[in-house]
Amino acid sequence: SSSKLLIKGGTVLNAHNQEVADVYVEDGIIVAVRPNIKQVDEDVTLLDATGKYVMPGGIDPHTHLAMEFMGTETIDDFFSGQAAALAGGTTMHIDFVIPVGGSLVAGFEAYKKKAKKSCMNYGFHMAITKWDESVSREMEIMVKEKGINSFKFFMAYKGSLMISDELLLQGFKRCKSLGALAMVHAENGDAVFEGQNRMIDLGITGPEGHALSRPPVLEGEATARAIRLAKFVNTPLYVVHVMSIDAMEEISKARKSGQKVVGEPVVSGLVLNDSGLWNPDFITAAKYVMSPPIREAGHDKALQAALSTGVLQLVGTDHCTFNSTQKAFGIDDFRKIPNGVNGIEERMHLVWDTMVESGQISVTDFVRITSTECARIFNIYPRKGAILVGSDADIIIFNPNSSFEISARTHHSRTDTNVYDGRKGKGKVEVTIVGGRVAWQDDELKVAPGSGKYIEMPPFNYLFDGIDKADAKYLSSLQAPVKRFSAS
Ligand code: URP
Ligand code: ZN
Ligand code: ZN
Ligand code: ZN
Repeated sequence: SSSKLLIKGGTVLNAHNQEVADVYVEDGIIVAVRPNIKQVDEDVTLLDATGKYVMPGGIDPHTHLAMEFMGTETIDDFFSGQAAALAGGTTMHIDFVIPVGGSLVAGFEAYKKKAKKSCMNYGFHMAITKWDESVSREMEIMVKEKGINSFKFFMAYKGSLMISDELLLQGFKRCKSLGALAMVHAENGDAVFEGQNRMIDLGITGPEGHALSRPPVLEGEATARAIRLAKFVNTPLYVVHVMSIDAMEEISKARKSGQKVVGEPVVSGLVLNDSGLWNPDFITAAKYVMSPPIREAGHDKALQAALSTGVLQLVGTDHCTFNSTQKAFGIDDFRKIPNGVNGIEERMHLVWDTMVESGQISVTDFVRITSTECARIFNIYPRKGAILVGSDADIIIFNPNSSFEISARTHHSRTDTNVYDGRKGKGKVEVTIVGGRVAWQDDELKVAPGSGKYIEMPPFNYLFDGIDKADAKYLSSLQAPVKRFSAS
């Protein structure tokens, strides 16, 4: 059956411009964006956006729904996590598939099954946690047949997910040959292990030990190393959850030199710092435990500044929720606290409040860092991330004069705590539209589990432009006789 939607009188925001215009949608596709569109049919859903912004739905590049991790499984699955996302104006997320029994294909199938209860758009990255011929072969299947164009390598979590530099290099080379984007969790896992032992030896077993065991210098070191290895291979690199000045400065330096490096801060790193964090009772402190950890005051503001100047390009959440019972696994030992915080519902509001209301970025920049840039990097622009004729109708109506308030009692995630509890600010997502249908309005979810859509992402994003040329130039430089050594 056909569905028609007309959004009247709003200010349409794209990353490249803003204009007062109506938006007309048929069967999930935007078919007109211009002023004074007349309602011709009776069966058109009419939404009044006068005085409000009409913008692309948020795309969260970094989530973990229904993930088995640290001896348990995240409390938000593909339905509860997505319901929370929709309540906060996010219409698509990209989740990380974890291989099953070493197999990427088995992991992919398992995640497709978990995602059957989806109610919005979702895509997948794939985590690479070991390396052999079959992983290499399966990467090709993921890219060519399954719609995955990015692979995350863990430089941390020694003994479980971590891989060595040797394997990291193999993985980077494979990504490059497939046109897939290499992503890294950049912390020095061997040094973190040493840091953890140091804390335990000192008798520091509480949540503060988590942060103390993996300081910014270890994030800076791994970020620098990943950047240099990506340069050696000449392939683009995406650094996930940039949490420190140390990591950000490495990204800044590389980008200034022309290297293709993308830095993704997450909401927790932008708006939280550790002042007063580790003092209260165990659960209150444990809810903040994530990796890399929440840093000292100063890192948050520096990451905001880097986002406003373009050193960092897009904002994720790393939404990875565990309830108090799960967090309590680490009551005697911080190493057993499941790592992860919430954010999928709060991202749009907190980024608006922190970045736009504070005057650090423009409203069009807001669209770029919460939606458009993610769509470009994962190669689904302008289908996603834009309000243009021909684009998918994933749209939010945002009231800049209303306000939001965050509370664990009213949020839509299944977890019983919220790291942003009590925060309020200006601006409120009022309507969330997915595929041309109202999915969220008046604090009510309007879509059912199973209505979600898997979005395939093709390889070779814009970051790959010119890489062939650079490789050819390098190879021809090796031909120059002056550079050669002879055995004579
Ligand atoms: O603490 C975190 N970040 N948990 C999720 C796994 C990861 O490293 O992204
Ligand atoms: Zn990570
Ligand atoms: Zn993550
Ligand atoms: Zn509600």
